[in-house]
Amino acid sequence: MSSRFSCVEAAPPVEIFALNKAYKEDSFPDKVDLGIGAYRTDEGKPWVLPVVRKTEKALSEDETLNHEYLGQLGLDEFSKAASRMLLGEDSPAIKENRTLGVQTLSGTGALRVGADFLARCANFTDFYMSAPTWPNHRLVFMHAGFKNCHTYRYWNPTKRNLDFEGMLQDLENAPEDSVIILHACAHNPTGVDATQDQWKQIADLIERKKLFPFFDCAYQGFASGDLIKDSWAVRYFVDRGFELLCAQSFAKNFGLYNERAGNLTIVAKDPEALVNSRAQITLLVRGNYSNPPCHGVRIVSRVLNDPTLFAEWQGHISEMSGRIIKMRAALKQKLEELATPGNWDHITSQIGMFSYTGLNQQQVKYLVEEHHIYLPKDGRISICGLNTKNVGYVAKAFHAAVTKFPSSL
Ligand code: LMR
Repeated sequence: MSSRFSCVEAAPPVEIFALNKAYKEDSFPDKVDLGIGAYRTDEGKPWVLPVVRKTEKALSEDETLNHEYLGQLGLDEFSKAASRMLLGEDSPAIKENRTLGVQTLSGTGALRVGADFLARCANFTDFYMSAPTWPNHRLVFMHAGFKNCHTYRYWNPTKRNLDFEGMLQDLENAPEDSVIILHACAHNPTGVDATQDQWKQIADLIERKKLFPFFDCAYQGFASGDLIKDSWAVRYFVDRGFELLCAQSFAKNFGLYNERAGNLTIVAKDPEALVNSRAQITLLVRGNYSNPPCHGVRIVSRVLNDPTLFAEWQGHISEMSGRIIKMRAALKQKLEELATPGNWDHITSQIGMFSYTGLNQQQVKYLVEEHHIYLPKDGRISICGLNTKNVGYVAKAFHAAVTKFPSSL
C-alpha cells in the first residue's frame, strides 16, 4: 500500500525536547535534568510565580473579561508595556512614536513574525547567527524565507570566553543589509556576553557596514535580576538611532513557558514607515495563525501596568537570578574541592540560566548514560536544574567524566 506521504523525508528529533522526554521516562531516583532552559526551585520543581498565581485568580473572577478574538497584533496594552519595559519609559523612540509592538507566540513567534516581515516585506535575504547559537534561529529564519544563513564566531573554546576578534572579523565580511541576530543578554548557549565597550564596537561596525540588528531578548530581568542592565545593549542601539527589531519572551522571566507570551518591537527612524509595516504584519499574522491567544499576555500586562504587582514580580526575578548565581558558585566550588582537572572559572563568569561547560560529546554521553544527568551534546547545562541536594552528585559525575575522558579539558 502506498501513501501520498511516502515521499516525506525522515527528520531528526528536536534535541532539547527529545532529551526532556528521555529524562521524564528515566526511573533512576537521582536523575538530574540539566537540559531544557526552564527554572526549577531548590526542590527541583517548576515554579508558578506567586504574582502570576494571584493575577490568574483575579482574572478568573473578573466577569468583565471574555474570550472574544484579539486583533492580529494582539493585546495593545500588553505590547506597549512590553516595549516600554524593553526600551525604558523615557526612550526617545517611544516618545517620538517610532516603535511598533506586536504580540507574538513567545520569543520564537516574535523571531518568526520579524523574520517573515524582513524577508517578505523588506527584501532581506541574508542573516548571521552566532556560532554556537540557539539552534532554532536557523530554522526560524530559513522557514521565514531567508536565502542565506551565515555564522559569526562567538565562542573561544580554549579560553572559554567571547571570541571578540573573530566576531568582528566575520561581521566585517558580511554583505550590506545582512540581518545580524544578537542576543540581548545571557547568550544561549554560552552564557557569555559582550562588555559594554565591546557592544559599542559591535554597534560601530554594524553602522559602518550597513548591517541590520535583530535582537533576541529572552531573559530580561532573569539574567541579572535588573531589567535595565539586561536590556542595556538594546537601549544603547536605540539611543544611537539604529533601526532594529527585538524579540521578547516572557517564558523565563514570568515562568509562562507554555502560555507563549511574547512581543516583537520594531524601532524605525520614521514613524511614517511604520504605517505600512503595521498593515503588512497584520496580513502576515492573518495568513499564519490569524490572531494570538490572550491568557498569558493578560497576566503580563496586569503585572507590568500595576506598580504593586510589578514590585512583587521584581522580587521574583531577583530570587530566580539569585538562586542561579548561587548554584554557579556551588558547582565551581565542588569541582575545585574535588580537584577536577581543568579551570572552572567560566562557570561563575558566565551569566543567565546556561553554562557552556566545555564538556565534549564523549563526556556528555557518559554523563547521560552512566549518571542519568541529562544535557545536550554541546555540553550546555541549565544551571536551573542544579540545587543544594544534587550539586555534589553532579560535580562528582563531572569529575568522573573529565577524568575518564581527559581529551578536551
Ligand atoms: C532552551 O534553549 O533550552 C529553551 O530556550 C527551550 C527551547 O525552546 O529551546
